[in-house]
Amino acid sequence: MICASSLLCRRAREPSTSTSADRIQMTDTRRVPFNDLLRGMTRDREAVLEATAAVIDSGYAVLGSQHAAFEKELAAYLGAADAVGVATGTDALELAIKAVMPEGRSVVLTAANAGAYTSTATVRAGFTPRYADVDPQTLCLSAKTIVEALSDDVGVVVVTHLYGFLGELAEIRAVCDERGVSLVEDCAQAIGAARPDGHASTFGHAATFSFYPTKNLGAIGDGGAVVPGTPEIAERVRQLRQYGWQGKYNAALVGGTNSRLDELQAAFLRIRLPLVDGFNQRRRDIISRYVEAASGLEPSLLTVLPAVGSAHAAHLAIARSTRRDEVREQLGAAGVPTDVHFPLPDYEQPAFARFAPQASLPATSEACRQVLSLPLFPELRDDEVDVVVEAIRSLR
Ligand SMILES: Cc1ncc(COP(=O)(O)O)c(C=O)c1O
Repeated sequence: MICASSLLCRRAREPSTSTSADRIQMTDTRRVPFNDLLRGMTRDREAVLEATAAVIDSGYAVLGSQHAAFEKELAAYLGAADAVGVATGTDALELAIKAVMPEGRSVVLTAANAGAYTSTATVRAGFTPRYADVDPQTLCLSAKTIVEALSDDVGVVVVTHLYGFLGELAEIRAVCDERGVSLVEDCAQAIGAARPDGHASTFGHAATFSFYPTKNLGAIGDGGAVVPGTPEIAERVRQLRQYGWQGKYNAALVGGTNSRLDELQAAFLRIRLPLVDGFNQRRRDIISRYVEAASGLEPSLLTVLPAVGSAHAAHLAIARSTRRDEVREQLGAAGVPTDVHFPLPDYEQPAFARFAPQASLPATSEACRQVLSLPLFPELRDDEVDVVVEAIRSLR
């Protein structure tokens, strides 16, 4: 998760196993990069340097005018009333869960195929994660899978808009409201996804974002935000992100921490926010080419999940295969690196094994066994997309 050196920071965490293979990638022109942050940084270089100078000249490092402006601009983009900057997406989840957990409840229901970020945040918040199965087509929680798993001790449902897909959130919100359960949307992979009835982040009691560099809106470092559903929730999150303070050196809330989005990251994010819709369209267009390339193959060998229309932010290009290892090997030999998001359900990871469900979650397990991710970032060139397309077509 943590960049071991500045060289590897160029490639960031996705693929999470970035090591020597990435160094080869930088010199071997036949290889398509899985991701290359340098391209976006080069594009934005001048604007970033100007923004850096503006921050330095302002004399503010945290909670200054850049941060205030970014909170406003993010909320306006989402069609939300407010947004609260925090240090990371995981912090955003932790603070949102704390802010909306109803009195007397302690369980957070979520999906187990989404990278364990919610499990991490839930445990840090002092609550217990529980897992519902996902829909076998969308690989996300649905109203049906949530209803099947809800019990009286569940206080919060966290729905991850996995890979960028925004499901039928109004239905999910109705299920939660009927039972007095708070809904948190994890929008880390879904900024910009929207349905006619709202943007991702406007359906829950709270929503969370990550601005990790590889995200569709990425900082040059870490960052996150909470979109609160009411002014009261906004106030709680603002207090929780700063030691639980209701005023300086006067903590009102238990469970406060220090989680601020700094001025530089806020300034950089302001440069990129207006670009997100264009980035998302480019991502969708690339995925469409992969879908088309795989359409002639036996579906069990490779099926690429489509990402069509504004309800999909196309964060990752996901394919499924019953022969994943062989397929990854063939693609790798053709110069196309792949990754797996995510290989282990949360409850099969040692840190969360004590929360393993009694009954199996078949769609979750199958997804973790079958999914693989293909190269996808907005700066991927057409000639590189061609290489991926050719490699997909040549699979046997
Ligand atoms: C779905 C999801 N939720 C939460 C996070 C956590 O965000 P961060 O890495 O900023 O803590 C991530 C990203 O890494 C993510 O993909």
